[in-house]
Amino acid sequence: MTRDEAARLDAEDTLAHKRAEFSIPDDIIYLDGNSLGALPTRVMERLDRVVTEEWGTDLIRSWNTAGWVNLPTAVGAKIGRLIGAEPGTVVAGDSTSVNLYKVVSAAAALRPDRPCIVTDTGNFPTDIYVMRGIAAARGLELRIVDPDQVGSAIGGDTAVLALTQVDYRTGRRHDMAALTEHAHRAGAIAVWDLAHTAGAIAVDLAGCEVDFAVGCGYKYLNGGPGAPAFQYVAPRHQAWFRNPITGWFGHIRPFDFDLDFIPAEGIERAAVGTPHVLSMSALDEALSVFDGIDLSEVEAKAASLTRMFIDLADRRLAEHDFVVATPRDAPMRGSHVSLRHSNAYPIVQALIAAGVVGDFRQPDVARFGFAPLYLRHVDVWDAVDRLVEVMESGAWRDPARAVRNAVT
Ligand SMILES: Cc1ncc(COP(=O)(O)O)c(C=O)c1O
Repeated sequence: MTRDEAARLDAEDTLAHKRAEFSIPDDIIYLDGNSLGALPTRVMERLDRVVTEEWGTDLIRSWNTAGWVNLPTAVGAKIGRLIGAEPGTVVAGDSTSVNLYKVVSAAAALRPDRPCIVTDTGNFPTDIYVMRGIAAARGLELRIVDPDQVGSAIGGDTAVLALTQVDYRTGRRHDMAALTEHAHRAGAIAVWDLAHTAGAIAVDLAGCEVDFAVGCGYKYLNGGPGAPAFQYVAPRHQAWFRNPITGWFGHIRPFDFDLDFIPAEGIERAAVGTPHVLSMSALDEALSVFDGIDLSEVEAKAASLTRMFIDLADRRLAEHDFVVATPRDAPMRGSHVSLRHSNAYPIVQALIAAGVVGDFRQPDVARFGFAPLYLRHVDVWDAVDRLVEVMESGAWRDPARAVRNAVT
């Protein structure tokens, strides 16, 4: 693959026009949209309006007049379309960790006679920590197995199967349809974390009959740093879903100020407290970038960008001791690619200094995200070229590159 061939792929890209909707500095190649999505320019105007008019002028009236109170479900509906959810099944708010606590607790309560939650070692640490807490509080076992052993770890004792679909480190993608069906056949509830899926890969929660799901708003959904997360509750569970955090925004009539908690009838019962209006407004506006976009087109571009990076890494980076840790078969991976290298940390820092922003994950992973809405094939080509330069020049050997930042 030459740079001209990469440019030809860009010329044929039906999503190419989307890049203009983002504010991306000219002097960097941004390969970290899997961690913090880039800024959609329309978010700037929206936040300006929310702060100066809705908050500054209209003040508390905006809960009604600007629809602040409906933001969690309005934003949830927009996310729902991107993840194949039925109408009225997604609500935005809280963090992924808190939402996972809610749905795994509720899922375990649906199988009170079963003692085990199954997950895998590829899951994100916060998911493991949250589920350890739930297991300890409920007297359950948290069974953590290798990603390829998940199927055989599910049995008659399994209350809940809880997995992250795309591994934050390796990019390996679980087969959601097959594992959900397997869990159901064993009588278990299936919970999925879509943090590295939503906005990059097409999923069909309804078609897969997933029970519960959660995910982040700040990665491929571009909602901004610390954006609200989301949760999905399948229609068949909504009447039974017991949110373990019974806050007033999950009440059927919060402004009755009733002393008894009566859960809302629909997905609203999964909410807890006052919505984070500023960050929720940013996420709401950012999601408009997806209007009219078919996620299968986004996934196809993700496959093309990641395929190109893997091919170039094989051809140009193997001699510098990089090992591709991400599956080569496109349906088996998400939209990021990880390269293992014993000096991954200083290499990533030197590459950032050279204008290519990726990140480092313990113990030896250089991770590169390819957000399909704003990355071009020529960016992939240029990024690999600069990485080769960093290796050949020895720029990564500068002791300053080894200094660990708080966020890697
Ligand atoms: C799979 C997964 N789940 C959860 C999170 C983070 O959750 P929270 O929104 O609570 O910080 C991440 C962050 O990268 C993640 O990769």
